[in-house]
Amino acid sequence: MNKLDRRKAVVLGGTSGIGLASARALADAGTTVITASRRDGGSSIDDGIRREQVDVRDRAALAALFARHAPIDILINAATGGERATGPFAQMDLDGFRGSFDKLWGYVNSVRLALEHMSEDGCIVLVSGFPARKCPPGMSAIASVGGAVEAFVRAVAPEIAPRRINAVSPGIIDTPMFTQTGPERAAVMEKATGSFVIKRPGTAQEVADGVMFLVGNAFVTGTVVDVDGGALLP
Ligand SMILES: NC(=O)c1ccc[n+]([C@@H]2O[C@H](COP(=O)([O-])OP(=O)(O)OC[C@H]3O[C@@H](n4cnc5c(N)ncnc54)[C@H](OP(=O)(O)O)[C@@H]3O)[C@@H](O)[C@H]2O)c1
Repeated sequence: MNKLDRRKAVVLGGTSGIGLASARALADAGTTVITASRRDGGSSIDDGIRREQVDVRDRAALAALFARHAPIDILINAATGGERATGPFAQMDLDGFRGSFDKLWGYVNSVRLALEHMSEDGCIVLVSGFPARKCPPGMSAIASVGGAVEAFVRAVAPEIAPRRINAVSPGIIDTPMFTQTGPERAAVMEKATGSFVIKRPGTAQEVADGVMFLVGNAFVTGTVVDVDGGALLP
């Protein structure tokens, strides 16, 4: 899929962070881009990107979104989905752990429903995360969700061919997912990336570069591209 200028992409979670950077990269390449998240964009068009409102947990709303914009060539889902439960597993609130899987259900919903409207050479990119394969203390729920996302990509790829599906796995990325500001934010980032080979948070643009590789390379499916500053290394 090299001629991105005649393609149409839906980017879920495309109003912030990694999704927004991916939406902008696609739009810069000439792709028609629709972003959607829970916040009300009022069907606005900004920088050539159309914004719509959808909750990835709402299957009827997702189905209607895809039907409205069919045929779809590219689906990116970077939505966080719901809560992110953290903390020691032995004291973990089990509803929180379960709630963290909203990200997976959002991904599963979107892939299943988008496929009904996806072109034969279409492609899908999801987002896992480094804890899937190297879990820091207190991140068992996030690690479990990420592992499920990566297993889902591998499981589905052969079934949906010639359409392609892959994931990017970010390290710690400086996005609005982290709510701290000022020195507190800097301290959180420093602590979280202290064990990485590259001791800084990545940018949303750096992850979007990985997304664009997966969109553009027609020989890649069922795999995960790590954009993580060496987070997995000892
Ligand atoms: N930042 C990191 O360090 C990092 C590391 C590893 C993995 N990741 C993964 O990367 C992905 C993107 O994260 P980010 O850092 O870019 O986060 P972000 O800046 O907080 O963006 C999250 C996006 O998801 C949307 N969203 C959340 N829940 C949604 C729902 N139920 N339905 C529709 N849209 C929803 C948000 O918009 P609304 O609030 O308007 O819905 C927003 O556009 C996530 O899957 C995250 O788990 C991030």
